[in-house]
Amino acid sequence: MSSVINGFSKLSKQDKIKWLAENHFSDPAPAQQVFESWQHQDPLQQKVIDGFTENALTNFPLPLSIAPNFLINGKLYAVPMVIEESSVVAAASSAAKFWLERGGFHCTILGTVKLGQVHFLWGGQAKVLETIFPDIKKYLLEESQDLTANMEKRGGGVTDIQLMNFTQLEPGYFQLRVSFETCDSMGANFINTVLERFAQSLEHFLTQYPGLSDAERDIEVIMSILSNYTPDCLVHAWVECPIASFAELAQNQGMDAYQLAHRFATAVRIAQIDPYRATTHNKGIFNGIDAVVIATGNDFRAVEACGHTYAARDGQYRSLSSCTVENDLFRFELKIPLAIGTVGGLTALHPLAKSALEMLGKPSAHELMMIVAAVGLAQNFGAVRSLVTTGIQKGHMKMHLTNMLNHLGANEEESAAAQAYFSKQTASFASVRAFLEQHRNLVL
Ligand code: MEV
Repeated sequence: MSSVINGFSKLSKQDKIKWLAENHFSDPAPAQQVFESWQHQDPLQQKVIDGFTENALTNFPLPLSIAPNFLINGKLYAVPMVIEESSVVAAASSAAKFWLERGGFHCTILGTVKLGQVHFLWGGQAKVLETIFPDIKKYLLEESQDLTANMEKRGGGVTDIQLMNFTQLEPGYFQLRVSFETCDSMGANFINTVLERFAQSLEHFLTQYPGLSDAERDIEVIMSILSNYTPDCLVHAWVECPIASFAELAQNQGMDAYQLAHRFATAVRIAQIDPYRATTHNKGIFNGIDAVVIATGNDFRAVEACGHTYAARDGQYRSLSSCTVENDLFRFELKIPLAIGTVGGLTALHPLAKSALEMLGKPSAHELMMIVAAVGLAQNFGAVRSLVTTGIQKGHMKMHLTNMLNHLGANEEESAAAQAYFSKQTASFASVRAFLEQHRNLVL
């Protein structure tokens, strides 16, 4: 029977597990056993992982897979991907191999600006604030020197502060929009710390500044926080090849290379026209992006939130990728904002994130942005290629078959028989179960 508990966070991990098993499971003993069995065997490692969040009970495993053969700007990578969806890594690897033979992925960084905001209410005339804003800016920068000095040494820091006037939409609402360069770190903590200092300094500045009326001294800071929308922290990835180089792939589908290229480009245009398709199309891109972002210890919610806002930047949600088929050349590209880092946060703390970055050659944040964008583009290429040729289910169900066989407790021999049988049949849960039952009866 479930019950309210106070002070749960103060219990030891063992007591937390015991309480949960006794209060939220009909059979406490096996539940307790499950939570205990997924602990890391090394208590020190487990302590590090437990430290990531409040009330950690155990670990939740997801596979860390590798997509090899990614040629990006002439350099070969084996890319780590953490994802549960069966066909994603296979599709990324296959797309990587396809483009490996066609010059690989080309990427460039278009910008690295991160953003933060101080939202505040102010009772005076906007003109007054605008007039004294150069002094405010100078003061805020001076008063945050102790926080920004280190980042400045690394080549970053606060690069701009703008005053935004939203009083037409909300009485008295202004905003400081602050631009940051955070070098190899994602920079969330740095940005939020500086913004909170800016908020304090702004209040202080207005109370001290000579010649202001009482109303003009009256400021109410509502909140100070980074913005996850970073349209100028942008990376561009593209692939291109002569259309003729689709010949073999097209022939296998009973098409010619031009038909295939045009079908592909039409599918991408559909995702630019229709938000329903665009959402699924972009989800395919994020299958690849999130998997690498998670593997490298970055914040995939931030990356997703930003990418979707960017996809709707002209007022309608659209495909993040685009495709042209012109002058015998196929070109497929992706522009995506990616605020990620390779130092700080979980990148050094999580033992597997550390290994993931190591296998990528300890990249800078710029390099990681390019790798992530290339994987997003590869994933999108793989999905759309399947959709306009065989359909998605063929590859999907092939991978999903393994999950179904595991779920049904198939042994090695049964799995091999099922894999052979379903290589020519569509597999569903019912058909796999029926196959196993029949196979087991035959073998008995
Ligand atoms: C499935 O996870 C992703 C796809 O739906 C993407 C797409 O439709 O482009 C296959």
